[in-house]
Amino acid sequence: NEDQYILAIETSCDETAVAVVKNETELITNVVASQIESHKRFGGVVPEIASRHHIEQMTLTLQQALDDSGMTIDDMDAIAVTEGPGLVGALLVGVNAAKSIAFAKQKPLVGVHHIAGHIYANRLEKEFQFPLLALVVSGGHTELVLMREHGSFEIIGETRDDAAGEAYDKVARTLKLPYPGGPHIDRLAHEGEETIEFPRAWLEDGSYDFSFSGLKSAVINRLHKAKQRGEELKAEDVAASFQASVVDVLSTKALRAAEEYGVKQMIVAGGVAANKGLRKALEEKFQNSEAELLIPPLHLCTDNAAMIAAAGAVAFNQGHRSGWDLNANPGLDL
Ligand code: KG4
Ligand code: ZN
Repeated sequence: NEDQYILAIETSCDETAVAVVKNETELITNVVASQIESHKRFGGVVPEIASRHHIEQMTLTLQQALDDSGMTIDDMDAIAVTEGPGLVGALLVGVNAAKSIAFAKQKPLVGVHHIAGHIYANRLEKEFQFPLLALVVSGGHTELVLMREHGSFEIIGETRDDAAGEAYDKVARTLKLPYPGGPHIDRLAHEGEETIEFPRAWLEDGSYDFSFSGLKSAVINRLHKAKQRGEELKAEDVAASFQASVVDVLSTKALRAAEEYGVKQMIVAGGVAANKGLRKALEEKFQNSEAELLIPPLHLCTDNAAMIAAAGAVAFNQGHRSGWDLNANPGLDL
């Protein structure tokens, strides 16, 4: 029996997730228990509530993943888990669950970086070709990551302030849209037009860094000014104008980096990869590029454990093992 099965657990933020992946790239089951409903009324993720929900959901989610796959923990070759970055109390629940299972069943344990997971979500759809670049755009991260081989991550640009998803969520809050705001802005943007010219932070010549806090402030200031003047600003147009700025900077820098590094693939990862405007702009920009554009399906963009299993399987096969002293590391480097 040559088949290899990895069970993975992800609890870094507000989804309790368990998945099983076969032979590095074949998704067997992917269970995600979302807590969004509990955090909505607070307008964002409340860390303490997140931890408590993870504790309630952990064994149920694990059982469901095993039931779905018709397998037991004994069938697994290793247990992978997100060790960071993320909310420390949330991460601890997953790390301790993974350690308990691995210890009880004497299975190898593999700690995985959350962003490596987001990137590897793409490999469940298509084989990687190196060198490749990944545009990681989530609630906590905005990075351009160069990969020359499996398991090697070189950050060539990153946000200097807010992450792209964070900017979406903050602007959405100002527009009184529910949490998380990204999908709501995305929807509104398609009903509006770019009537307001918001700034685009290109930063220094040749820089692959990003900055979204100036844009966020510009949107908030424009809304305040309109309110003071009693001027009618359509939320749809504000959303469309904001989204145009974010998408323009992300897609332009991604293409420039892909050309400069001569990569074979451009991979998009993280929750904001679900954005329709971004997907469309990237598809247009990469039409004539040598680099093949990969964008995962929506269920693999936002947080899940399939991506942790995919990254964990590669790490496992490269010989990486975590000890019983594995700990949650909220500031873990890629
Ligand atoms: O990767 P993810 O699920 O969690 C983190 O690791 O952060 O990303 C969540 C982020 C949130 O900020 C959410 O608003 C954003 O992804 N998001 C979107 C869309 N769907 C989710 N942002 C823009 N457009 C979307 N369609
Ligand atoms: Zn994430």
